[in-house]
Amino acid sequence: MKRFSILAFLSLLIAIAACKKDVLIPDSSKLTNTNIEFKVPENWPSPYYSFVNNQLTNAGFELGRTLFYDTRLSRDNTISCGSCHQAFAAFTHSGHDVSHGIDGKLGNRNSPPLFNLNWHTSLMWDGGVNHLEVQPLAPIDNPVEMDETLPNVLAKLRAAPKYASLFQAAYGSSEITSEKTFKAMAQFMGAMVSANAKYDKYMRKESGVTMTQSELAGMAVYEAKCASCHKAPLFTDFSFRNVGLKPNLSNDSGRAHITLNPDDMYKFKVPSLRNLSYTSPYFHDGRASTLDKVFDQMETQIYDYPTLDPAFKNGIKLSAQERIDMKAFLKTLDDESFIKDSRFFEPTP
Ligand code: HEC
Ligand code: HEC
Repeated sequence: MKRFSILAFLSLLIAIAACKKDVLIPDSSKLTNTNIEFKVPENWPSPYYSFVNNQLTNAGFELGRTLFYDTRLSRDNTISCGSCHQAFAAFTHSGHDVSHGIDGKLGNRNSPPLFNLNWHTSLMWDGGVNHLEVQPLAPIDNPVEMDETLPNVLAKLRAAPKYASLFQAAYGSSEITSEKTFKAMAQFMGAMVSANAKYDKYMRKESGVTMTQSELAGMAVYEAKCASCHKAPLFTDFSFRNVGLKPNLSNDSGRAHITLNPDDMYKFKVPSLRNLSYTSPYFHDGRASTLDKVFDQMETQIYDYPTLDPAFKNGIKLSAQERIDMKAFLKTLDDESFIKDSRFFEPTP
């Protein structure tokens, strides 16, 4: 009996170890269709989107990756998802305040970085999209982004020789449908997990990882003044808040644009604080080019609205030393291994 329970315990340990495997996304040369296990990082909450009805496979991922970088998704075949979501910039559009799409047209919002999307309870700055599997339709038929129709996209994919075999490998049939297209893109985007910053290693107590005095002081300021919205470990609680940014020229009403509720006027989704070194400019319209400008905004440029978040009524002030420490702490949230992960790069044709 005793022997049996030890065995049972050992096999349980092995089972747990097996669950902890990394996201195993092989390189594109191997298009056998094996399942990929999606690993939830240690001590993280369960993701909101979990691939339950969209089994993550390496062929599905590769198909999604090819689609993400395919300019056929735009009307004049010039713009891909990757045009505005660049790997080296943690998948935001480097250096652009608002998005820059087809025919050089400008949108009115900053392209958000893409990572840890499976934890988002809604997508877009205003939460206007509620599911990762329908999200690609928004940029495709947006007249200032890709300006294309879904039937046209499908016709172009069907005419491109490479897709028959990619769909075949992923779904066991070369038939190309919008559902398969979107599910494959959700696999690619959902697999983009950024959980390997210095902060993460420190929290996992990895050997040799220590924080400096300044980083620790910054973490304490973060806990006191920022964590209520930018909640660890995702560094956002995905709520919508008005933090007092003066209305811009497009007078973007934010969350109220979707809910039509006056109480939601000028509220935007709390962005993550991860990977900020790669994602400037900041805020929903990219109005702040540096972190110091973000801090200036939070401290001295609060525009008073009826829907202003109480935390910002008097601004949030950081002393000169606190700014230095805060910047040091925020740098510990940069995940260089994520932006250098070639599995997410444009596939070589
Ligand atoms: C012209 C630039 C542009 C293109 C092309 C583009 N996007 Fe975006 N993307 C944006 C902007 C801007 C937003 C924010 C929109 C909003 O809040 O209304 C966004 C938002 C998103 C989000 C939500 C992120 C979040 O944090 O809520 C996802 C996911 C996304 N895009 C994926 C894609 C995919 C997939 C494609 C290709 C089908 C694509 N994007 C094409 C600019 C672009
Ligand atoms: C009441 C909730 C709340 C608190 C508290 C808060 N923030 Fe934010 N923060 C937000 C929201 C919402 C935005 C997006 C605002 C927008 O673009 O309209 C934001 C944006 C940011 C951005 C820009 C990120 C990007 O990708 O555009 C940074 C950086 C930031 N906050 C840092 C901080 C720091 C540092 C603190 C603490 C000193 C803090 N925030 C406190 C809600 C909050």
